[in-house]
Amino acid sequence: MGASSRLSSMNERTFVMAKPDAVQRGLVGEIIKRLEQRQLRLVGIKRIQIDQALAERHYGVHREKPFFSSLIEYITSGPVVPMVWEGPNAITAVRATMGATHPLEASPGTVRGDFGLDIDQNLVHSSDGPDTAQAEISLFFGASELGG
Ligand code: PPS
Repeated sequence: MGASSRLSSMNERTFVMAKPDAVQRGLVGEIIKRLEQRQLRLVGIKRIQIDQALAERHYGVHREKPFFSSLIEYITSGPVVPMVWEGPNAITAVRATMGATHPLEASPGTVRGDFGLDIDQNLVHSSDGPDTAQAEISLFFGASELGG
Protein backbone atom coordinates (compact mmCIF):
# COMPACT_ATOMS: atom_id res chain seq x y z
CA MET A 1 0.00 0.00 0.00
CA GLY A 2 1.41 3.41 -1.01
CA ALA A 3 1.64 6.42 1.29
CA SER A 4 -1.40 8.14 -0.21
CA SER A 5 -3.74 5.13 -0.02
CA ARG A 6 -2.53 4.48 3.54
CA LEU A 7 -3.38 8.08 4.37
CA SER A 8 -6.84 7.94 2.77
CA SER A 9 -7.81 4.66 4.45
CA MET A 10 -6.71 6.20 7.79
CA ASN A 11 -9.43 8.81 7.42
CA GLU A 12 -11.93 7.07 5.19
CA ARG A 13 -15.59 8.08 4.91
CA THR A 14 -18.44 5.71 4.20
CA PHE A 15 -22.18 5.93 3.71
CA VAL A 16 -24.50 4.00 6.03
CA MET A 17 -28.28 3.96 5.97
CA ALA A 18 -30.67 2.59 8.59
CA LYS A 19 -33.46 1.16 6.42
CA PRO A 20 -37.21 1.48 7.11
CA ASP A 21 -37.38 -1.70 9.24
CA ALA A 22 -34.51 -0.50 11.46
CA VAL A 23 -36.18 2.89 11.94
CA GLN A 24 -39.60 1.32 12.67
CA ARG A 25 -38.09 -1.14 15.16
CA GLY A 26 -36.17 1.58 17.02
CA LEU A 27 -32.76 0.16 16.12
CA VAL A 28 -31.11 3.38 14.92
CA GLY A 29 -29.55 4.01 18.33
CA GLU A 30 -28.23 0.44 18.45
CA ILE A 31 -26.58 0.85 15.04
CA ILE A 32 -25.02 4.18 16.07
CA LYS A 33 -23.85 2.73 19.39
CA ARG A 34 -22.05 -0.16 17.70
CA LEU A 35 -20.29 2.10 15.21
CA GLU A 36 -19.25 4.53 17.96
CA GLN A 37 -17.95 1.62 20.03
CA ARG A 38 -15.68 0.78 17.09
CA GLN A 39 -14.35 4.33 17.42
CA LEU A 40 -15.76 5.50 14.11
CA ARG A 41 -16.92 9.12 14.01
CA LEU A 42 -20.40 10.24 12.93
CA VAL A 43 -20.00 13.19 10.55
CA GLY A 44 -23.49 13.41 9.03
CA ILE A 45 -27.00 12.16 9.84
CA LYS A 46 -30.63 12.96 8.96
CA ARG A 47 -34.05 11.33 8.75
CA ILE A 48 -35.72 11.35 5.34
CA GLN A 49 -38.34 9.60 3.24
CA ILE A 50 -36.76 8.34 0.01
CA ASP A 51 -38.84 8.94 -3.12
CA GLN A 52 -38.96 6.66 -6.17
CA ALA A 53 -36.40 8.72 -8.15
CA LEU A 54 -33.79 8.77 -5.39
CA ALA A 55 -34.32 5.05 -4.70
CA GLU A 56 -33.79 4.22 -8.37
CA ARG A 57 -30.60 6.31 -8.47
CA HIS A 58 -29.23 4.75 -5.29
CA TYR A 59 -29.93 1.19 -6.42
CA GLY A 60 -29.51 1.84 -10.18
CA VAL A 61 -26.74 -0.75 -10.47
CA HIS A 62 -29.27 -3.45 -9.50
CA ARG A 63 -31.89 -2.41 -12.10
CA GLU A 64 -31.72 -5.74 -13.94
CA LYS A 65 -31.89 -7.91 -10.80
CA PRO A 66 -35.10 -9.87 -10.15
CA PHE A 67 -35.43 -8.28 -6.72
CA PHE A 68 -35.10 -4.66 -7.98
CA SER A 69 -38.78 -3.68 -7.68
CA SER A 70 -39.15 -5.17 -4.20
CA LEU A 71 -35.93 -3.41 -3.14
CA ILE A 72 -37.34 -0.06 -4.33
CA GLU A 73 -40.68 -0.73 -2.63
CA TYR A 74 -38.93 -1.60 0.64
CA ILE A 75 -36.56 1.40 0.74
CA THR A 76 -39.42 3.84 -0.03
CA SER A 77 -41.82 2.20 2.46
CA GLY A 78 -40.96 4.46 5.42
CA PRO A 79 -38.43 6.91 6.82
CA VAL A 80 -34.73 6.02 6.64
CA VAL A 81 -31.71 7.46 8.45
CA PRO A 82 -28.76 8.09 6.11
CA MET A 83 -25.41 8.70 7.83
CA VAL A 84 -21.77 9.34 7.02
CA TRP A 85 -19.13 7.71 9.21
CA GLU A 86 -15.42 8.37 9.24
CA GLY A 87 -12.33 6.61 10.56
CA PRO A 88 -9.49 4.23 9.73
CA ASN A 89 -10.70 1.71 7.14
CA ALA A 90 -14.27 2.85 7.79
CA ILE A 91 -15.74 0.99 4.78
CA THR A 92 -14.44 -2.40 5.91
CA ALA A 93 -15.06 -1.72 9.60
CA VAL A 94 -18.71 -0.74 9.00
CA ARG A 95 -19.41 -3.76 6.78
CA ALA A 96 -17.91 -6.11 9.36
CA THR A 97 -20.05 -4.51 12.08
CA MET A 98 -23.23 -4.90 9.98
CA GLY A 99 -22.55 -8.54 8.97
CA ALA A 100 -23.30 -10.45 5.77
CA THR A 101 -25.97 -8.99 3.46
CA HIS A 102 -28.28 -11.96 4.10
CA PRO A 103 -29.15 -11.94 7.80
CA LEU A 104 -29.22 -15.76 7.89
CA GLU A 105 -25.54 -15.77 6.90
CA ALA A 106 -24.59 -12.93 9.24
CA SER A 107 -22.61 -13.93 12.32
CA PRO A 108 -24.01 -13.42 15.80
CA GLY A 109 -22.52 -10.21 17.17
CA THR A 110 -23.18 -8.31 13.96
CA VAL A 111 -26.20 -6.02 13.52
CA ARG A 112 -27.85 -8.29 10.94
CA GLY A 113 -26.83 -11.44 12.82
CA ASP A 114 -28.38 -10.14 16.04
CA PHE A 115 -31.51 -8.42 14.72
CA GLY A 116 -32.28 -9.73 11.22
CA LEU A 117 -33.80 -12.80 9.62
CA ASP A 118 -34.92 -11.85 6.13
CA ILE A 119 -33.00 -10.57 3.05
CA ASP A 120 -36.06 -8.42 2.21
CA GLN A 121 -35.62 -6.52 5.48
CA ASN A 122 -31.93 -6.50 6.26
CA LEU A 123 -31.92 -3.36 8.40
CA VAL A 124 -28.99 -1.43 7.03
CA HIS A 125 -27.07 -0.45 3.91
CA SER A 126 -23.38 0.40 3.77
CA SER A 127 -21.06 1.28 0.89
CA ASP A 128 -19.05 -1.57 -0.60
CA GLY A 129 -15.98 0.41 -1.75
CA PRO A 130 -14.37 3.87 -1.93
CA ASP A 131 -15.97 4.90 -5.25
CA THR A 132 -19.43 3.77 -4.14
CA ALA A 133 -18.96 5.53 -0.79
CA GLN A 134 -18.13 8.82 -2.47
CA ALA A 135 -21.06 8.55 -4.91
CA GLU A 136 -23.55 7.58 -2.18
CA ILE A 137 -22.39 10.32 0.20
CA SER A 138 -22.89 12.98 -2.49
CA LEU A 139 -26.25 11.52 -3.49
CA PHE A 140 -27.62 11.95 0.05
CA PHE A 141 -25.60 14.81 1.60
CA GLY A 142 -24.44 18.28 0.61
CA ALA A 143 -20.97 19.35 1.77
CA SER A 144 -22.49 21.78 4.30
CA GLU A 145 -24.31 18.89 6.02
CA LEU A 146 -21.09 17.05 6.87
CA GLY A 147 -19.17 17.94 10.01
CA GLY A 148 -15.52 18.89 9.68
S1 PPS B 1 -25.73 -8.75 -5.91
O1 PPS B 1 -26.67 -9.49 -6.73
O2 PPS B 1 -24.65 -9.57 -5.34
O3 PPS B 1 -25.19 -7.55 -6.59
O4 PPS B 1 -26.62 -8.25 -4.75
P1 PPS B 1 -26.14 -7.84 -3.30
O5 PPS B 1 -24.91 -6.97 -3.36
O6 PPS B 1 -26.07 -9.05 -2.44
O7 PPS B 1 -27.36 -6.98 -2.87
C1 PPS B 1 -27.65 -5.75 -3.47
C2 PPS B 1 -28.74 -5.07 -2.69
O8 PPS B 1 -29.96 -5.75 -2.92
C3 PPS B 1 -30.45 -6.33 -1.72
N1 PPS B 1 -30.92 -7.69 -2.04
C4 PPS B 1 -32.18 -8.08 -2.05
N2 PPS B 1 -33.30 -7.42 -1.78
C5 PPS B 1 -34.47 -8.13 -1.88
N3 PPS B 1 -34.53 -9.42 -2.22
C6 PPS B 1 -33.42 -10.11 -2.50
N4 PPS B 1 -33.51 -11.40 -2.87
C7 PPS B 1 -32.17 -9.44 -2.44
N5 PPS B 1 -30.89 -9.81 -2.65
C8 PPS B 1 -30.14 -8.71 -2.41
C9 PPS B 1 -29.33 -6.30 -0.72
O9 PPS B 1 -29.79 -6.12 0.59
C10 PPS B 1 -28.52 -5.13 -1.20
O10 PPS B 1 -29.00 -3.93 -0.64
P2 PPS B 1 -28.07 -3.00 0.22
O11 PPS B 1 -28.94 -1.86 0.63
O12 PPS B 1 -26.92 -2.61 -0.66
O13 PPS B 1 -27.65 -3.84 1.39
